[in-house]
Amino acid sequence: LSVPVITIDGPTASGKGTLAAEVAARLGYHTLDSGMLYRVVGLAATRAGIAASDEAGLAALASRLQLRFDGTRVLLAGEDVTDLLREEGAGVMASQISVWPALRTALHDLQCGFRQLPGLVADGRDMGTVIFPQAGLKVFLTATPAARAERRYKQLISKGIPAKLDDLRQDLEARDARDKGRATAPLKPAGDAILLDNSGLDVDASVQRVIDWWSERQ
Ligand code: C5P
Repeated sequence: LSVPVITIDGPTASGKGTLAAEVAARLGYHTLDSGMLYRVVGLAATRAGIAASDEAGLAALASRLQLRFDGTRVLLAGEDVTDLLREEGAGVMASQISVWPALRTALHDLQCGFRQLPGLVADGRDMGTVIFPQAGLKVFLTATPAARAERRYKQLISKGIPAKLDDLRQDLEARDARDKGRATAPLKPAGDAILLDNSGLDVDASVQRVIDWWSERQ
């Protein structure tokens, strides 16, 4: 029996995580936030003194990560690092190290392991192109850079984290450029992905689109 998978790929702050979580909740499926794995490796590397340029060191570190998940919390060697992973710095570090093919390979099987019954909603950059090429539904989510910077800004401010709109927009455009330009698993829609621009859509409307597409395919 093959386990159903929905992939949601797209650029930084396009709302992938929220959309994936809501769709999974509606369907009773598991989730995989693949960006979080790159963030964890970045954090663990910083702590271990492994440089962002050390491809082999990062890959070795990724294969011996002591990760556990407790609901939506992420535990690294027993420590709850969820809040640290959400910081902008962790995202920037993740984007720098994610260019390395050996690291991406080291995280491949870990990601495939999230595919469990009754189903999975996976979000990231290469879920539909590399990790789950057989997924039953692939969504490529976009929004204008202005809409994305604004969202990220509101998210941070609402959590009491100081932020500057201009800096956020510059950061996310730099990150987009790096994610699209890298040689291995660049950010791009799978050939069979459905494009969804949510610049003018609220979360419920986006969730409903995905649920409708999924129902049509059953
Ligand atoms: O999605 P999130 O912002 O948490 O991802 C952080 C970084 O991890 C991205 O900028 C991207 O470089 C990298 N990433 C990736 N492949 C994925 C998910 C994230 O390269 N599947």
